Amino acid sequence: MQWFILLVQAGVSYAALRFACSTVSIQRLDPLVEPSRIPSAHVHQIVGGNAFNATMEGDIGEQGTCTTCAYTEDFSNYWTAVMYFRHENGSYKRVPQYPNAQLGTEGRDAPDINGGMTIYYTQKDFTSNGDQYITAFKPGFRMTVGSPTTNTLAGAEAHPGLRYTCLQTILTRGSETPDFPQKPCPAGIMAIHHFPACWDGKNLDSPDHQSHMYSTTKGGFQEAGPCPSSHPVRVPQIAYETMWDTTVFKDMLPKDGSNPFFWSYMDSLGYGTHADYVFGWKGDSLQRAMNDSCMFHKCGSPGMQGVLKTQSVADMNKCSVTETVTEDTDGWLTELPGQMTAKRFTA
Ligand SMILES: *[C@@H]1O[C@H](CO)[C@@H](O)[C@H](O)[C@H]1NC(C)=O
Ligand SMILES: *[C@@H]1O[C@H](CO)[C@@H](O)[C@H](O)[C@H]1NC(C)=O
Ligand SMILES: *[C@@H]1O[C@H](CO)[C@@H](O)[C@H](O)[C@H]1NC(C)=O
Repeated sequence: MQWFILLVQAGVSYAALRFACSTVSIQRLDPLVEPSRIPSAHVHQIVGGNAFNATMEGDIGEQGTCTTCAYTEDFSNYWTAVMYFRHENGSYKRVPQYPNAQLGTEGRDAPDINGGMTIYYTQKDFTSNGDQYITAFKPGFRMTVGSPTTNTLAGAEAHPGLRYTCLQTILTRGSETPDFPQKPCPAGIMAIHHFPACWDGKNLDSPDHQSHMYSTTKGGFQEAGPCPSSHPVRVPQIAYETMWDTTVFKDMLPKDGSNPFFWSYMDSLGYGTHADYVFGWKGDSLQRAMNDSCMFHKCGSPGMQGVLKTQSVADMNKCSVTETVTEDTDGWLTELPGQMTAKRFTA
């Protein structure tokens, strides 16, 4: 009998999601770290539901009316800083984002996903689901990972989940570094953010937006270590991949070979990379998905039915939020927005 139970449990397998969300907004707002500050300190690129605003709170899964994510029940918001190119003449220009080549493929004539990010909710690693129970986040849950004030290599290395890949082709993976690539990357730079996946089981947020969570992440989509007793609840392992098309500046690179790329908080080393998450799946949809045994495309993707409902790329791209902060974030700029008096943080 004991034996039978063990075998049945070993057969349990929970789901892993990988999907695209196009850009929903690019502006200077940060409802998590700087709620109601308009504008916030630096520019962000945001994907997900349209309930995003400077003071958002509560169950945004019920407040949103559209989402830029492939899964139509996901009104969460996901965001990071924005990458800028600094020309030798001192002007800055936003680096465009481009989508994962393997997502949103609906045929030759389908539109491209508009920028955005690839989002993961995994429990084990990149190739297998594992079989530990995954508890979905609760409405109002939020967290951050990393910090814009990290300014040493040792500080950056201490976060195995926050890395960069110098893309040799659009499909390059692995070869991660804790700082910006030191040489031009033939297919752009991918920024990777793995969040912690151990929750204290009580707090939807904490004063520093991090201490209600604990990271046992080893980075690179390896299986994370077990959760400690202080943070015993295993939640989905969230990761973001953002592909920055630095190649559009290949004819303007600095002659001295220095790195011309900056995060929007004036960081050209890349050590301060960070990301924000606000949960917003409607009802029990994320738990329903986590309880399933699907992996990636099989959970549902444009053109393939699964446990989750999907929408077309055209509908993803249609969703947006009205800008609260109307400033130019995309032209050639003399300063990074909000950084006029900030201390530049470079090698
Ligand atoms: C922002 O969202 C909150 C709820 O999340 C809502 O109460 C508030 O009215 C919204 N503000 C604006 C300006 O839309
Ligand atoms: C710097 O170069 C860019 C690209 O040629 C140009 O658009 C921008 O106006 C220049 N800025 C200054 C201050 O000359
Ligand atoms: C997920 O699985 C748990 C444990 O088997 C079950 O109690 C819960 O009702 C399931 N939730 C959903 C939304 O399927």
